[in-house]
Amino acid sequence: MISANQIQQSFEEYLQNLDYSHNPDNLYAPIRYVLSLGGKRIRPTLLVMAYNMYADNVSDVYDVAVGMEVFHNFTLLHDDVMDNADMRRGSLTVHKKWNANTAILSGDGMLVLAYQYLTNCKPQYLKQILDIANATFMGITDGQQFDMDFETRSDVSEAEYIEMIRLKTSILLAACLKMGALLGGASQQDASLLYSFGEKLGLAFQLQDDLLDVYGDASVFGKRIGGDIVCNKKTYMYINTCLLASEEEKVVLSKWAAYDGDDMDAKIEAVRSVYDSVGIRAIAEAKIEELFSEAMSLLNKVSVSEERKSILREYALGLMNRVL
Ligand code: IPE
Ligand code: IPE
Ligand code: MG
Ligand code: MG
Ligand code: MG
Repeated sequence: MISANQIQQSFEEYLQNLDYSHNPDNLYAPIRYVLSLGGKRIRPTLLVMAYNMYADNVSDVYDVAVGMEVFHNFTLLHDDVMDNADMRRGSLTVHKKWNANTAILSGDGMLVLAYQYLTNCKPQYLKQILDIANATFMGITDGQQFDMDFETRSDVSEAEYIEMIRLKTSILLAACLKMGALLGGASQQDASLLYSFGEKLGLAFQLQDDLLDVYGDASVFGKRIGGDIVCNKKTYMYINTCLLASEEEKVVLSKWAAYDGDDMDAKIEAVRSVYDSVGIRAIAEAKIEELFSEAMSLLNKVSVSEERKSILREYALGLMNRVL
């Protein structure tokens, strides 16, 4: 078994040695840029860990892992255009450093590159890997559209929010775990359990990302704080704050939702103070805990030794301890 640190270091070295110095440079420079900014590399790490629960020679699945990380980075380029975000991984987003057209086209190129890497899997798994990728990538697109549609709705339910984040975030983590497991020779049952584990972990992870978007430290989070409030994103916190708020606070929330001025700091401050008043942070933290322990119960059912599961369990725990 290889430790989480070893996996991450050796995968990172592999990723950084890939050559994207082609012409036209205006297409490839943003790809090199985003892939050089770090990031937690959660998706390839999960894929390699799931593989390593069943097989050795982890470098055999690095190309598939690269495919999933490049796909993830493609979604970030487009997501930052859609969310009008100017910071990512502590640096300027591609559409701010270059422009939106560049982010769109370099992103498109990355989607194709992702498929090129995925097709380097062992030939007998090609159809399975591509089927999972197709279903996952289309599902993420659905999730991202729901995310945008919800910005202009005021009646989004918690169930709709959970389904939206399952699509935009969870299924990518789940697919990585399933791919790793299948490539390692796991049973269909284990592969499905790991998929379900990834779904729950992804829900907890996205809810935490939403929490950090309000209460995080920008220098650690790497993104501007308050972006979701600015965009009227319907997060777990926003939806539940609306349910718990007094009539007066509801008026404050709807006034700022309709605000079209420039003072976004005032908007963030006003919405955050309603969040504080209903105590949404503790409520969201309890929900994250609940989703995380559901994830852990699913991992417990996977039929490999405790020792083989422990690296994944520790890694998942570490993920949830991202600093507020
Ligand atoms: C960002 O994903 C998008 C979300 C699903 C919240 P990560 O938080 O994994 O971003 P990086 O890759 O580490 O930068
Ligand atoms: C990310 O959701 C989902 C995808 C990129 C598909 P967010 O919009 O919350 O991610 P961040 O906060 O910009 O990383
Ligand atoms: Mg975003
Ligand atoms: Mg988004
Ligand atoms: Mg976010």
